[in-house]
Amino acid sequence: MDLREAALAVRGRAHAPYSGFAVGAALRGAGGGLHVGCNVENVSYPEGTCAEAGAIAAMVAAGETRIAEVYVVADAPVPVSPCGGCRQRLAEFAPPEVVVVMATVAGAERRMTLGELLPGAFGPDHMAAG
Ligand code: THU
Repeated sequence: MDLREAALAVRGRAHAPYSGFAVGAALRGAGGGLHVGCNVENVSYPEGTCAEAGAIAAMVAAGETRIAEVYVVADAPVPVSPCGGCRQRLAEFAPPEVVVVMATVAGAERRMTLGELLPGAFGPDHMAAG
């Protein structure tokens, strides 16, 4: 299964009764594994989680900690861009050169690297003792 197919399939399982905006995310791990997630909303709105966060959790639970490629899809007029928090979550496991494919159900795709999406990311180097 390719990343687009996997992201579209998991999008169908999104729990998004409040926004009505279902999102699917698929990650290719550096070891070749495929990991998927969908958004899971909550009646207490801030407790909802993004599709990317779900896919990252599935990847880590499967024993992978390095992301090679990301695919995010929603039924939107333009390709969906990961939120700021999810960019930082992706940066925990993906170097800046990793490609994030943002897509619509209709088939539009936009490719950017994580470094383009999150320039100047906060990272472990910033916490080195001075
Ligand atoms: N959402 C995602 O899951 N991923 C994104 O990249 C953008 C937004 C979700 C969060 C919320 O459940 C819904 O889309 C509307 O913001």
